[in-house]
This record gives sequence, structure tokens and C-alpha cells, in this order.
Amino acid sequence: MRIETLSVFPEMFEPVMSTSILGRARRMGLFDFHAYDLRDWTHDRHRTVDDAPFGGGQGMLMKVEPIAEALDDLIARGPRPHIVFFTPCGTPFSQKSAERLAKRERVLFVCGRYEGIDERAYAYADERISLGDYVLTGGELAAMVVTDAVVRLIPGALGDEMSSVDESFSTGAGGGLLEYAQYTRPADFRGETVPEVLLSGDHAKVAAWRRSNALERTVAWRPDLLEGADLTPEERARAADLLRAREGAPKDEGGC
Ligand code: ADE
Repeated sequence: MRIETLSVFPEMFEPVMSTSILGRARRMGLFDFHAYDLRDWTHDRHRTVDDAPFGGGQGMLMKVEPIAEALDDLIARGPRPHIVFFTPCGTPFSQKSAERLAKRERVLFVCGRYEGIDERAYAYADERISLGDYVLTGGELAAMVVTDAVVRLIPGALGDEMSSVDESFSTGAGGGLLEYAQYTRPADFRGETVPEVLLSGDHAKVAAWRRSNALERTVAWRPDLLEGADLTPEERARAADLLRAREGAPKDEGGC
């Protein structure tokens, strides 16, 4: 897989792309990364990439010509990239989006800055992604977050190929539920003990406890996920019971 970014701050990427799991996956050749400098497609002495918006208003907009020229050039190098623009107006990013992007051969992220991008540049967008309902100073951090979520799904990137399957939100063995609680040594920490079943060595019982715990946590913290989750009729009935029992119960703020 090849991941490329187009931005005015290409130097932001290297520390993230060469550290930890991303760095190792890149060195293993599991993905190839390149950050392009948008100013390389400008033609004036000041390497101008922004201008004032027509109609007035605060701040500056990114100009369409450097983006269009850069994308024409990068597209011509082939194979045809899947082009993603980052903007708070985009589709909210999710694990499903990451799974979809991880299947692409070449992904090109366009990172905006300033008050936005000239609307005509979006003619190149295969999709617009938002990281959430808040405004960042630019798309670079969004591109890094998405790259991280995508690369860890590439087979071999995590070392243990199963470990991205049953985690929170995964549409794999996790079935769209939050991930179950996990523990490591010591078995007793200040009187807080690990559930007995996890110490039993009985793999079937451990798997059943985890599934049940994942369901309970999803009911408690993210009931909105239940509708899209892959549940058996028995699990659905249990989720309904748990939800009813929670009505009127004190709020559990959650977090996993
Ligand atoms: N650029 C600025 N804010 C953003 C957001 N929330 N998501 C993606 N790109 C952005």
C-alpha cells in the first residue's frame, strides 16, 4: 500500500511515520509513505498557496491552482490514487472507513490549512473525511490519525495478526461491540482482583466471559452501537434486559 500526503507542512509527518508500529511497518515494506510539499506546485517567488475569500470574511483560503496542479501531477504518476480531503464538513471517520481505506493500493490525503480550501479543488475528492465535530488548525493531524488506524490493519503490521480483529468497533470477531476488559499481572492490585475465569485456563469459558463483558460494556457506555452490532438473538435479548435494568440506574461514564 502507498500512502501520500499533500500539505504545506510535510515535515510534520516524518516523526510519526518513522516511530513505533508505523515505523516498523514502513521499514518492513508493508506500506510506503511520502509527504509532498504543496508549495512545490507554486510559480511565484513567495510560493503562495493562500488568498483572501471572494465575498469577504475572516482569514485566508487555500488556492485551487497549486492543489489542482499537484494532483494532476501525482495522479499521472499512477496507479490512480484514492483521494481524500480532510475537512470538518466530511463524513465522520470510523473503524469501517479505516477498513475500507486499508484495502486501497494508493491513498492520497489532501490536508487543508487556514480557513479552508477553494471549493473547486474538491472536484478531485473521492471522499471528504472529518475526524469529528471540532475544528483543527489543519488536516495534517487528521491524516496522521487516519494513517495510524489504516496501517495497523495491514496484515503483519501488528505482529500478531489477530489482535486487530476483536477490538472495539471492529467488524471482525468483535462484531461491532466495544472491546472486553483486559488484565495482566498482578492478579490482585490493592484488593482489586481479576475475574476468576480469566485465570482458569479454560479457553471456551474465557471466550464466553469476554463476549458477555463486551456486550455489558457496550450497553453501559455506547448503547448507540448495539443496533449495528452482530448479535445472536440471545445476546440481543440480554442487551434489551441490561438496557431496561439501566433505566433509572446511576450513570456510568465509561471508557475503555
Ligand atoms: N481540518 C480541520 N478540522 C478538521 C476535522 N475536524 N477533521 C478533519 N479535518 C479537519
